[in-house]
Amino acid sequence: MHHSKRKRSRVAIVTGASRGIGAEIALALAADGIAVIVNYATSADKANTIVKHIKQQGGTALAVKADLSKPDMATSLFDEAENTLGKVSILVNNAGVMELSPVADVTDVSFERQVSLNLCGPFRLMREAAKRLADDGRIINLSSSVVGLYQPGYAVYAATKAALEAMTKITAKELGGRGITVNAIAPGPVATELFLKGKSEELLDNIKNMNPFKRLGEPQDIARVVQFLSRSDATWINGQVVRANGGVV
Ligand SMILES: NC(=O)c1ccc[n+]([C@@H]2O[C@H](COP(=O)([O-])OP(=O)(O)OC[C@H]3O[C@@H](n4cnc5c(N)ncnc54)[C@H](OP(=O)(O)O)[C@@H]3O)[C@@H](O)[C@H]2O)c1
Repeated sequence: MHHSKRKRSRVAIVTGASRGIGAEIALALAADGIAVIVNYATSADKANTIVKHIKQQGGTALAVKADLSKPDMATSLFDEAENTLGKVSILVNNAGVMELSPVADVTDVSFERQVSLNLCGPFRLMREAAKRLADDGRIINLSSSVVGLYQPGYAVYAATKAALEAMTKITAKELGGRGITVNAIAPGPVATELFLKGKSEELLDNIKNMNPFKRLGEPQDIARVVQFLSRSDATWINGQVVRANGGVV
């Protein structure tokens, strides 16, 4: 009988992978043979559905609940990933929240919520990754194209993402010695709950028309970029912000 020696699959943590962009990222990485931790905060059913899809395709995945706005969760998420699927090679900081309001009306609660999930969470996971990620690992942080737009109402959200971009570029310089790349992807508008919530058809049509491709981004458009940056041979893109937005800005 022929025994083929199977290569151990790499392991990825994808935060906020129960729905939206994160769910497509989890599916895309799994399609490349990567074992995926599908993190979620509240949507257990949706996270389990993504895991089921991956398993039906012959892949490996596990849903793990962790509210990443809470301080201790980064360590326990890494622990759980290592204990179940093995050493982590890829960290995708995708979980995020957007609350729009003029600065004059931003509540402390809203400020805290956005900073704690969009900035503190990725920071704590990157700190963990800096110590525990496999050599030649990948860190990919979800920023946003609004960072460069300075639109009214976006002050807090854009500030969290601008800070994350700064942290991305600096961490990239620190981790190169182990072959780890650290990059950010800054999507334009993508058709998910985060973006669609509260927008009229007319406003959506205007936004579509501003894009050279006359449409919104789809989660898959972003997942493909994550897939590329995650590849073992994607060694030479490091410390970059990839503005995946169809050319709108
Ligand atoms: N959509 C856009 O137009 C757009 C544009 C630029 C950048 N982005 C960025 O892309 C990322 C994904 O956005 P999206 O549009 O896919 O958002 P989404 O559809 O609202 O999905 C958010 C995901 O994050 C998870 N999540 C929320 N709170 C969490 C917490 N405290 N701990 C862990 N997970 C949590 C959610 O899981 P539960 O359901 O379990 O809570 C869900 O899986 C975000 O960082 C966002 O800022 C989005």
